Amino acid sequence: AQEHVTCGDFSDKTVLITAGPTREALDPVRYITNHSSGKMGYAIAQAAQRAGARVILVSGPTQLATPAGVERIDVTSAQQMLETVMAHVKSCDIFIATAAVADYRASHISQNKIKKKDDELTLTFVKNPDILKEVACLPTPPFTVGFAAESQNVEHYARQKLINKKLDIIAANDISREGLGFNSDQNALHVIWADGDKRLEPQNKKHLACALLTVINDRYNNKKT
Ligand code: CTP
Ligand code: CA
Repeated sequence: AQEHVTCGDFSDKTVLITAGPTREALDPVRYITNHSSGKMGYAIAQAAQRAGARVILVSGPTQLATPAGVERIDVTSAQQMLETVMAHVKSCDIFIATAAVADYRASHISQNKIKKKDDELTLTFVKNPDILKEVACLPTPPFTVGFAAESQNVEHYARQKLINKKLDIIAANDISREGLGFNSDQNALHVIWADGDKRLEPQNKKHLACALLTVINDRYNNKKT
């Protein structure tokens, strides 16, 4: 019951969450990906479920166990993640994009293993769809929350993403801060919306997930009224 009080009340709400990295094939044995453990997204999924939400977790490849009561759908590539998100977005009230989506995929996936040949290898990539932007720009979007992993000008870049992608909230993390983010159990977030912001200090990702949900709950209720 304590969890309900501290993370907000999400009963009667469906929360759709993307988490983990995506994996983009180059050939039958190779792929490119991003650093991402999926821990932040899974922690948010667990906290939202405990706060009463129906939670659908669209996950790239991770080493993590599915939080109890969470509906998890596994995907590999960004395109699969987009398709799965679009298939479930109409039924959701809140969309939270924590996934480290590969910005590009190979223009052509080789049917056969690429053989070692010249001293230099050039590959060509094409841009992947921006899942978060596509959701936020729907005619009747859910309440949308994005993440921004930045190594410099954190607040400036995060605010640009908030505006360009038409988000309700963006949670920025400074990846240059030691011992935070990526594979760590700790993280800090600067949560930003159109007319306000809140800094969530470095803490365990499970506690941070709860603190973030509290802000989301506040902003969601503020938007409705
Ligand atoms: N995102 C997404 N689909 C993509 C790329 C990003 O849904 N193809 C989402 C991420 O899940 C995150 C937010 O968009 O919530 C911001 O991701 P980030 O990589 O920080 O921003 P980009 O818009 O991709 O810009 P850049 O990588 O150049 O900073
Ligand atoms: Ca990116």
